[in-house]
Amino acid sequence: MAPGYGDTDSNNHTGFLTVEQGAAILVRMATLGADGPTGGFFSEDGPVPW
Ligand SMILES: NC(=O)c1ccc[n+]([C@@H]2O[C@H](COP(=O)([O-])OP(=O)(O)OC[C@H]3O[C@@H](n4cnc5c(N)ncnc54)[C@H](OP(=O)(O)O)[C@@H]3O)[C@@H](O)[C@H]2O)c1
Repeated sequence: MAPGYGDTDSNNHTGFLTVEQGAAILVRMATLGADGPTGGFFSEDGPVPW
């Protein structure tokens, strides 16, 4: 999954999303039910071409 460009130490705080915003997709994917999508690459905006 892609968290987007987050405001963290690793990019000297140039990211435009908060850590909480970046974490949203990770939490959502980690808590998917058994019928959730698999084998894909996802961001907050949905599937990402890969
Ligand atoms: N920021 C973005 O926009 C972005 C986008 C896509 C992917 N990513 C990826 O997300 C990951 C984290 O990036 P970030 O932006 O959150 O970086 P970050 O702000 O530099 O945070 C890295 C975290 O890893 C911890 N850490 C580093 N070495 C460690 C070790 N040996 N043992 C335990 N913890 C360790 C650090 O702990 P301390 O605070 O204690 O040093 C810190 O909490 C990276 O793999 C990065 O490539 C980031």
